[in-house]
Amino acid sequence: MREVPIEPTFESWQRAARGLLRDDVGPADVAWREVPVGSLPAPAEPAAADGGIRVPRSFVDLARGVAIHRDPARWSLIYEVLWRLTREGRELMGQGDPSVERLVRMEAEVRENRAVITAGPFVPPGASVDGLRTAAARCAGCDLSRHATQTVFGRGQADARVVMVGEQPGDQEDLKGPPFVGPAGEVLDRALAEVGLARERLYVTNAVKHFKFTPRGKRRIHATPGPADIAACRPWIEAELELLHPEVLVCLGATAARALIGPAFRLMQQRGIFLETRWAARTMATFHPSAVLRGEDDAAQARLYGMLRDDLRLVADTIGRETQ
Ligand code: URA
Repeated sequence: MREVPIEPTFESWQRAARGLLRDDVGPADVAWREVPVGSLPAPAEPAAADGGIRVPRSFVDLARGVAIHRDPARWSLIYEVLWRLTREGRELMGQGDPSVERLVRMEAEVRENRAVITAGPFVPPGASVDGLRTAAARCAGCDLSRHATQTVFGRGQADARVVMVGEQPGDQEDLKGPPFVGPAGEVLDRALAEVGLARERLYVTNAVKHFKFTPRGKRRIHATPGPADIAACRPWIEAELELLHPEVLVCLGATAARALIGPAFRLMQQRGIFLETRWAARTMATFHPSAVLRGEDDAAQARLYGMLRDDLRLVADTIGRETQ
C-alpha cells in the first residue's frame, strides 16, 4: 500500500495521480492522506499540461468539481475512474458506470455549494492579514472559486479602527481584484467623502470572496449569495475580523448583517444602530451602496443615499469623538 499525501486541491491530487499512473500503481494500492494546504513542498517544475496522460475533458471537469466535495473518499474515487479510463477507454464516461454516476452526483452537490470542503482548510493558522490575503488567492473551498476570475480579499489598514463588510465582489471587482471598485464602490466613496471618513484609513472587505453570477450571453448577472455560499466562505471573514479587531464594524447590506450580527437581523428596522457583537463593541448595519443604485427613480435613490450617508456619519462622529 502506498500512502500518498495531498493538499485538498485538484492540482495536488492531479500531480500525485500522474506519478502513480507512471509507476503503474492501481487504486487498491493507494491510501490518500490529506495534509494542510501549504504543507507540501512546491512542485519542482510545471508538468506538461496533460502530463502525457490523455483523458476526456468531461472527466477533468468532473474531477475538478468533485475535488471541492467534503467526502474524504473523493480522491480514491476519482483515481479509480482515472485508472479505469486509461485501461478501459474514454467510453467509460458515457456508460452509466456506478462510479462515474457517483462522481456526477457529488459534482451536482458541489454546484449548489452543499457538501463542500469550505474555506477552512485554506486559512493558514497564525497568519497576518497579508498572509491571509496571499493564501486566499488559492482558495478552492467552494464552487464559486471555479467560475470567478480571482479571489477578492479585503484591502486596507491592518490597524484600521473601522472595518466595512459588503456582500460579495461584483463584476468589476472580480476583474480588478480589490473590493468596492465598481459602481457600488463609487457610491460608497462619495458617502465616505461626505462624512469625512478617509477610505485609505479603513479596511474594506466582503462576506463572500468570489463573485457569484449567472452567465447571460456575454454578460455576467450578479446572483445573491445564499446561506451555503456564506457558510463556505465564513472562515475568511472570521480570520480577518479576529486579526483586525475593529472599534467599529459596519455591515453594508443585509447579507453582511445577517452573517455577522445574526440571521434574525432586519435591516429596515435596525439599520443605523450600534450593537455589540463578538467582532466589535460597536457593530452597525446600513444600506448596501448597490441598494442605492437599485432605487426605482432619482428620488428613491436620493432617499436611500441620504440614509446610507447619515448612518456613516454616525460612524465618523463616533470615531471622531473617541480621539478627543
Ligand atoms: N458589492 C459588494 O458587496 N462588494 C463589493 O466589493 C462590490 C460590490
